[in-house]
Amino acid sequence: MRLLVCGGAGFIGSNFVRTRLRACDDEIVVLDKLTYAGRRENLQDLEGDPRFSFRQGAIEDPAAVAAATDGVDAVVNFAAETHVDRSISEPDAFVRTHALGTFVLLEAARERGLRYVQVSTDEVYGSILEGSFDESSPLAPSSPYSATKAGADLLVSSYHATFGLETLVCRGSNNYGPRQHPEKLIPLMVLNALAGDRLPVYGDGLNVRNWLYVEDFASGIGTVLDRGVAGEVYNVGGPDECANIVVVRRILELCRRDESLIDHVADRPGHDRRYSLGADKVSALGWAAATAFDEGLERTVAWYRDNAWWWEPIRSGAYRDYYLRQYGRELRS
Ligand code: NAD
Ligand code: TYD
Repeated sequence: MRLLVCGGAGFIGSNFVRTRLRACDDEIVVLDKLTYAGRRENLQDLEGDPRFSFRQGAIEDPAAVAAATDGVDAVVNFAAETHVDRSISEPDAFVRTHALGTFVLLEAARERGLRYVQVSTDEVYGSILEGSFDESSPLAPSSPYSATKAGADLLVSSYHATFGLETLVCRGSNNYGPRQHPEKLIPLMVLNALAGDRLPVYGDGLNVRNWLYVEDFASGIGTVLDRGVAGEVYNVGGPDECANIVVVRRILELCRRDESLIDHVADRPGHDRRYSLGADKVSALGWAAATAFDEGLERTVAWYRDNAWWWEPIRSGAYRDYYLRQYGRELRS
């Protein structure tokens, strides 16, 4: 199969491309705008593979999408703005990429009759204090990030109902692992702990997230691409839930630092208290998570400790210049 992977230079997309090339004989074209979060470094070990190619371009650009879809059998769309805090301070890119970008991709898929997988998030269901969401739970997003992701999911499903396009929506819970941008909780705390910097915990630190190792989400998306029923939504919930403060304490332990580095800072506006996602439907297709949170976190800390070449340019502030060039404005921290 020849696949177009949009957003394949990001954290989860690059992992998906790597595991897919290893596991089967697909050819993969990556289309990525290379925002502050997309990095060629994430794919550099694949550059020599004749089954892999890269194109820089935006999913909201019909010409870039038309060129990238030439000869492909299926599209997997990871391309997104992904940080909730940024969606609060600058929501415009979220609307452009999630609404307009998804629309442009769907039109290209419709014109060519391509199978289409939309990668989405448990955040579209909003917060849940007890129990877990399943695929029939109502959508109740809280942030501009999750609201625009929910809108994109609905548009995708409408292309199945209206035009008979072979669409699938795959919603994952919070991912962690190598190559995640250090704006997100786990890599931020790991790098701050390794450097002996302060660890900013929002509010009381008792918000709960449902952690999924990135390779497990990648294999879940692959399962849905290969065996999912067109028109359906599949949730890929991680095996473990954990309060933020417990995650942070565990990271401090793994980095051999003490808890005096923790700072309780002002809470995020609209901060969802708990996410919890089931995985029964994707499990029935043969998927299972392979990595428990304790083991995955240890592996993740070790990866950041051993790969300073990957995160040093980001920590040093070089990505601020990159962001300024890309968007024509300062990155707000
Ligand atoms: P990321 O921020 O690391 O990567 C996003 C990628 O998309 C980057 O390479 C970026 O350059 C690219 N991109 C952004 N806008 C684009 C555009 N308009 N056109 C083309 N490329 C564009 O994100 P991630 O964590 O890898 O998330 C990937 C997908 O998985 C997203 O759709 C996200 O909503 C979903 N998801 C993420 C998580 C998580 O915990 N990170 C959990 C569940 C689902
Ligand atoms: P994040 O990694 O931004 O993912 P999401 O908001 O999409 O779940 O945040 C995970 C949790 O960690 C969330 O409850 C917010 C919290 N958090 C902090 O306490 N401090 C931080 O500096 C960050 C980035 C997040």
